[in-house]
This record gives sequence, C-alpha cells and structure tokens, in this order.
Amino acid sequence: MSGISKSQWIKYLFLSSLGRADDCPPKTGPYQDYPYFRKSSLEEIRGFWKKTLELIDTGRAPKEIGIYIHWPFCPSQCTFCHCSMTVPNGDVGMKAYAHALKEEMDAFSDVFRNHAFGSVYIGGGTPTFMLDEELSSLLNHVRSRFRLTPGAQFYVETSPATLTESKLQTLIFHGVNRVTLGVQSLDDGIVSGVNRVGQSRKKVEYILRSLLSLPLIVDVDLMMGLPGQSTLSFLRDLYSMVKIGPQVIHVYSYDSRPQTLASRFHKRLEGIDWKDSDAVRLAADRILKSSGYRQSNWVPGEDIDNPLEERQDGSLRKFGASVLGFGLAAKSHAFGSCWYEHRPIALAKSSMGRIPPYFCFESNLEEEMRHYAVRNLSRFHHIDRSDFRRIFHKDVVEHEPLATIISQLERLKIISVDSREICWKITDILSRQVLLRKFYSPSLVSALVGYYEKERARFYEVYDKSSVNLEENIRRKISDFYFQRVYYRESSPLKTQGFQKYHALS
Ligand SMILES: C[S@@+](CC[C@H](N)C(=O)[O-])C[C@H]1O[C@@H](n2cnc3c(N)ncnc32)[C@H](O)[C@@H]1O
Ligand code: SF4
Repeated sequence: MSGISKSQWIKYLFLSSLGRADDCPPKTGPYQDYPYFRKSSLEEIRGFWKKTLELIDTGRAPKEIGIYIHWPFCPSQCTFCHCSMTVPNGDVGMKAYAHALKEEMDAFSDVFRNHAFGSVYIGGGTPTFMLDEELSSLLNHVRSRFRLTPGAQFYVETSPATLTESKLQTLIFHGVNRVTLGVQSLDDGIVSGVNRVGQSRKKVEYILRSLLSLPLIVDVDLMMGLPGQSTLSFLRDLYSMVKIGPQVIHVYSYDSRPQTLASRFHKRLEGIDWKDSDAVRLAADRILKSSGYRQSNWVPGEDIDNPLEERQDGSLRKFGASVLGFGLAAKSHAFGSCWYEHRPIALAKSSMGRIPPYFCFESNLEEEMRHYAVRNLSRFHHIDRSDFRRIFHKDVVEHEPLATIISQLERLKIISVDSREICWKITDILSRQVLLRKFYSPSLVSALVGYYEKERARFYEVYDKSSVNLEENIRRKISDFYFQRVYYRESSPLKTQGFQKYHALS
C-alpha cells in the first residue's frame, strides 16, 4: 500500500488478522476475551452512567437510551445457535436468575430517575420460556423501575415452542408492542434435525396469524444454510412467509461460530453451499421485493423516520447511543464513559442467582468519535458529515485526531471527502480492513499488540517469508462473511394503539 510504511501496514494487518470484528468494542464474543477490558464494580459502573447522563443533559451525547435484558434460557439447544444460552436443569436456576435481574434493576433505577428510555428489548435465549408469573413479574419490574418515552419500542424475542396464549396476553398487558418470532425454517424435517424442540409448521402459521391480529409489530427470523436445507426449501419458506405477511423479516445466514453445538462436535453444518449464496440471496431479494418488502438501508439518518426500524439493533447501534444492559452477556454502552458486559462465567454454573461482576473498557468523547468513524466506515462504507455534526457538534474534518487521519488517507487517495460525506475510494476489502485500524487510539493499538506479543512475533516471521500467502489467507477469512438482512413490509398498517392506550393509563 503506497504511502503507508511497511511496519505500519504489518502492524495493522496483524490486528486485522485477529478477528472479524471491525469495531472496538467488538460486536461479538464475551468482552472478557479482549485484552483492553478490565474488571469493574457496580459503584464504578453507576458512576460511569452518571457521567453519561450529564453529557446527555448538556447536549454532548445522543439523548436516546435503550434497555436490554438478557434471558439466557431455552427449552432445548438448537445445534446451529451461537447465542448466549443454556438449557436449565429445572426451574430453580431460572427463578434465581430472574430474582438477580430484578435486584440489578433496583441497583440502577435511582440513577435514571430523571431520564426516560426510548426502547426496551428482552432477548435471549428465549424470554417467553419464563413461567407465566415470572414473565409478568419481570415486565412489571421494568415498568415500575424505569420510565419509557411515549411511543417507546418495547420488544421481546419469542419462539413457537414457548409462546402461549396466556404469555401473549401478559406481553400485551404490560405494553409490549413488538415481538420477534424465531422460525428459522418451516420445514418440519429440518427443524427437528437441528434439535428445535416443540415447533411445527402448523404451529408457526397459527401463532403468526394470531400475532398479526394484535396491536403488535411482528418480526420473523428465518435462516439460510441450515443442515439439510436446500435452496428450494429456503426459498419455499420465504415464499410462504411473505404470504403470511409479518411486518419485518430477518434473513440470517448460518454463522458457524465456535460456541455452536455443531462446531463443538467438530462438525461443520452442511447447508447451502457458500458459493451459491449470492444467487440464493438474489432470488430471496426478488421474492421479498415483489411481495412489497424493502431492505433496510443501514444508512445513518435514512431510516430514522421508519417506524419499523428496530431502535436497538438499528438506530442505537448506528448512532452509538447508550444501552443499559441487564443480565449475562448483555452488552452495555454508557456514551462517553464506557462499554461493559458481565463476565459469562456463571452461565456454566448451575446456580444462576448472582450476576457476576462487570468487565469494562473506558471511553471518552475522543474514543466515541474514533468508534463512530470505524463503525460507519466498516458497516456503512462512509461517514455522513451532518450526522457526525449532530452527535459531536463539530465537523469530522475539524476534529483532531480524526482530521489528521482523514487528510492523510485523502492524500493517499484511499478515501474521498466531499461536503456531505467521507467515502472509501478503494474497493479492496483487505486494505479497507487494515486501514480502519488507523482510527484506533494509540493506547488501544498498543494494548492489543502488547497482549498478542507471541502471536505477533510468529505473524511477522510468516509475513517476511510469504507476505502474499498470508495476506491472501486473511482476505479469505474476512470475506467469508456472515450476513443479516432486514426487510420491512412497505404497506404495514401500524397497530400500536394498545401501547398508546397503556401510556394513557399509566
Ligand atoms: C437470540 S436468537 C433468539 C430466538 C429464539 N430463541 C428462537 O430461537 O426462536 C435470535 C436469532 O439469531 C439467529 N441465529 C442463532 N444462531 C445463529 C447462527 N449460528 N447463525 C446465524 N443466525 C443465528 C436465529 O435466527 C435466531 O432466531
Ligand atoms: S435459536 Fe433460540 S431457541 Fe434455539 S438455542 Fe438459540 S436462543 Fe435457544
């Protein structure tokens, strides 16, 4: 890469070789696996939040905050699943965990007394696996400890095996206005082959029809690449799904992360071959578009007025706003203060009564700007200057250290700068990945490089012998990407009156 010194290039190439996560903090995996996170106490975390709220109150942080609650239990473990989940041994562990979750909410509610949340997301695992009274008590706890903005999105992940009539009533009663139904496949053979107990096509169709008659936004998850699944079977499922017509359809390609049961058994799931995946995606795109669905743009600002946009997966992460997480594996972000997560150790233990201490990576406004640049260039391939100004009150090209990095990359014709945006000029995926690391703070780079000292020595040796092969291997690794696509039904009549009614009452 002309203009970048060889040693700089190798350093950033080495960092790129460590993983696929483009962002810091990483999008996946337990934070404790990353060297720049450290242990932290409840008191310290409360202090971080107070600082964030002060930044919000003085207009120096996005005012949106969401709550994320993780329920890590499921009735069975699907062999493809990469989520933080466990199958409990009876109800005792679940009860103790629910109790600990509520205690943790109590420990934070006073900090947020004067602030309202724009979204609540209860994910998992399978939150509707909770016993009826537990689900009701947890939802009640959230509502009584935290304030929500009018029109806040309140959503819960559900599955066909666990969503009963009474649970649905409980969700609606407590103001839930959006649910995601994990379907994955409508083919009963495929579903039982991946150990997805308690689901059948008939049941899915029945549940979806009742969900769609209620004041809810309904999202559905489908997967592509499950074992035994052919292109035809996947496209047939998709076709049946658009006929039923949920407001949002998520299409996930199977991602064989090491924590999946399938990988643990040293078997790679055989599904749709990767080399065909582009053609399958294209066919899927056609079915969805011709049935009135449009793909989410994932462009900052563009979907902001879309009422179907998921606030937490979409806008909160897009703009880097704050998320208050509860429970194991919940990733929290106190804008301008820190990113943190609970250590996942207790997942392996039978007693789930105590949520273990936190792991955090301290942030400040400069880290937030760097993170914003990395996230937007990696995920959306550009930085929108007006969006940056809206969040940080200054133009990205006037803000050090970003200004210097941007002008250097512009001189090298790696990026272009116009009045609206900063865009990649190069298309090579490896070079983009490597050069993104220029935006990392020097302290972060040295923490990473220092931590991986041994691997780095080996890496340099191999690079000197055969830089071409090594670069080629990394290129292959980062291009074997996993994707998630979100499609919105264009003509979705929004049925959230139930929620507004709840607000009027509360
Ligand atoms: C947190 S899971 C919860 C869904 C719910 N428990 C269910 O299974 O119905 C959210 C979604 O992640 C997707 N998912 C899980 N493991 C995956 C993997 N290895 N690759 C791609 N997507 C995956 C599935 O589509 C799943 O519905
Ligand atoms: S896909 Fe859903 S039900 Fe299956 S193991 Fe994962 S979280 Fe549990």
